[in-house]
Formats: sequence, structure tokens, C-alpha cells
Amino acid sequence: MKKIAILTSGGDAPGMNAAIRAAVRCGIDLGMEVYGIDRGYEGLLDGDIKPMGWHSVGDILQRGGTMLRTARSSRFMEGRWVEHGAKILNTFGIEGLIVIGGDGSFRGGLELSKLGIPVMGVPGTIDNDLAYTEYTIGFDTAVNTVLGLISNIRDTSSSHERTTIIEVMGRHCGDLALHAGLAGGADVILVPEVSIDTNEICRRVLEGQQSGKVHSLIVMAEGADFEPEELAKTLEEMTGREARTVVPGYIQRGGSPTLADRRLASLTAAKAVNLLYNDSESKAIGVEAGKIVALDLDKALDITSEFDTNLYELANVLGKGK
Ligand code: F6P
Repeated sequence: MKKIAILTSGGDAPGMNAAIRAAVRCGIDLGMEVYGIDRGYEGLLDGDIKPMGWHSVGDILQRGGTMLRTARSSRFMEGRWVEHGAKILNTFGIEGLIVIGGDGSFRGGLELSKLGIPVMGVPGTIDNDLAYTEYTIGFDTAVNTVLGLISNIRDTSSSHERTTIIEVMGRHCGDLALHAGLAGGADVILVPEVSIDTNEICRRVLEGQQSGKVHSLIVMAEGADFEPEELAKTLEEMTGREARTVVPGYIQRGGSPTLADRRLASLTAAKAVNLLYNDSESKAIGVEAGKIVALDLDKALDITSEFDTNLYELANVLGKGK
């Protein structure tokens, strides 16, 4: 394969730029022509495709976001538009595509691959919700960003002897809340994968309070079945302690990628390029037991998530009031 293209799609994630850089430079190093597609599948449909040179990806390694920009394309969910996308790639002579994104982006890639275009999925999302891989690019940075916020919130929550609910992103996946909650010392972690009722949350907070905790932190995934303001109100009534809510929002999605994300991005993108160079069929690149792996794209998307119950239980023990 001689001509390949890269796009980023869906929610951006820190480390996407590191992946773009690695894909461009590894491709050029192997003697390939590498093209960048602007604004994900939207840009593909509009033919926004440009050649990328070695220096076009200079000084982006440390930047959050994506230099290629991104979009959530509703058009690309329709077969006729996927066909249009395949035609555009053929017109440009592009033989293989690297898609950096999450589940929806990979599904778009799978449809393209059914039309004969090999597609390599590089996992880029802060949600860590691609079940076939242990980690996705951006997750580590987002967890660390949330940890910084928790640390600041802890200061003021403690001074005012309050309960603070911090709602983090993650869509339907609780990983961001779980990992930030464990590492940030949350009293209670609320995730979509585990059901818990309001009385139990109040009981745990009260238990902490009665055992001498001067304040409480609840880390809640946005996909958990609670409305933060309502929960805060109930907690105030049931525990007699003031409660506040914090929704950091997009702050979690920006920022300079961590070492782990730059490393994962560089390795997965390099693998994707090598697979295309060797005329591989469509794959999803990921990490398993610390090693970079490549699974058939369709099979990878069929794997269902397993929530880390052990980690969740450990976090619950460590956050208890005794
Ligand atoms: O998938 C990444 C993510 O940040 C999710 O955590 C969140 O639910 C969603 O994107 C927000 O999407 P948008 O940028 O369209 O508001």
C-alpha cells in the first residue's frame, strides 16, 4: 500500500495529535504518501483531504485536541453517504484509512471496510469505553485532569465541611469515575454499571460523618442514574450537612497528554501504519496485558465491556467511614 489517510472522529481526546504525528511520520518513513482528512467523516464527505508532510505534524505532540479537527457525522450513518465516502477515497487514490476515535467512529470505519477499504481503528476517547482494549488514548490524561480537580475541591470541601458531588464524563461507561474516584479518595463512586439507591448513598456518607470524616466526596459518572442537584438536596436533608455539585465538563477533554497517552498514541498509530503497509485487513488496535494488539475490526466491536468490579469494591473499602 502506498497512499493512506488519517482522520479523527467523535469527541476529541488528548493524545490524538500524538497519534496523527506517529501515523504521518511512520508512513513517510516507510515511503508512503500520507493524507490528512479534516473534520472526520464530515470532511471525508466534503473531500477535505490534504497531503501531510513530516513537518506538518511538528510541535503538536504536546497539544490536546486534534489538529485535523473532528466531528460527529450523522450523514455517515447512512449507507449512501458511506458509499460516497468510499468513492472520494478512491478518487484520491487512497488505499487505506486510519480512524482515530471511539466506538461510533470505528463503526463508520467498519462500514467503509465492507466496501473494500482497509480501515485501522486507533482507539481515541477519554471514555475508555472500547471493550476490546484495556486503555484508550486520552483516558489517562482525563483521569489525571479530574484528579487535579478533585484535589482542589477536596481543599474547599474540607474547609466548609461539605459533601461535594463531582460529575465526570464517560457517556455510558463508568471507568473515568471509577479510576478518578479510587485515586482521588472518593467516599462514594456512582457508575452506570452498578446500581445503588439514594438511601445507601446517604447511609455511607452519614457513616463517614459519624466516624469523624469532616467532609465527603462523591465522584459520579454522567451515565449514572442520578441528577446531581437532586442528590445534593436529598443528602442535605438526610445528613444535615451542606452539599454542593461540580460538573467540570469539557475541562476534562482538553489539556496536554500524559506520558501514558503519548506513548499509547505513538505505538497504536505506528502499528496501524505497519498493518496498512503490509496490506492487512481491517483491524482495531489496542492494548492487552501491556502489549499492543490488533483484532479484526468487526470482532473487536462485538466484544462487550467488563466493568472492573474488584477495583470498584476496593475503592468502596478505601472510601468507607469506620
Ligand atoms: O465521548 C467523549 C465525551 O466527552 C463523553 O464523555 C461525553 O458524554 C460526550 O463526549 C460529550 O459530547 P459532545 O462533545 O458532543 O458534547
